[in-house]
Amino acid sequence: MKARLKVCRGAPGEDRRYEHYEVPFEQGQTVLDALRWIRVHRDATLAIRFSCINANACKECMIRVDGKTVYACTTRLAEREMTLEPLPNKIHLRDLVTEIAPPDERLSSASGDE
Ligand code: FES
Repeated sequence: MKARLKVCRGAPGEDRRYEHYEVPFEQGQTVLDALRWIRVHRDATLAIRFSCINANACKECMIRVDGKTVYACTTRLAEREMTLEPLPNKIHLRDLVTEIAPPDERLSSASGDE
């Protein structure tokens, strides 16, 4: 059994594109499990962000799945094609990663200018 993920790729200034991945499917897996599998087995360049993995505690894995904003670590993988995109209302950094820290909590750049 396979899950199929259609994943938005690209960085600001580049054309966004969708890449398709097939991932081994097991009941109980999450979208984040599938993204981590892709990074290990198919494409280490895929940018994703997560920290707590499945506790819904860090809130860093927030993405859009089939047009809905969700936590990738608590969203069940399905045996169908799922479309994964970055959050539309945040600064896009690369692939599925957006700037989620509030502006006053972001680190300043090394040169001191922002
Ligand atoms: S990885 Fe921490 S909330 Fe999803």
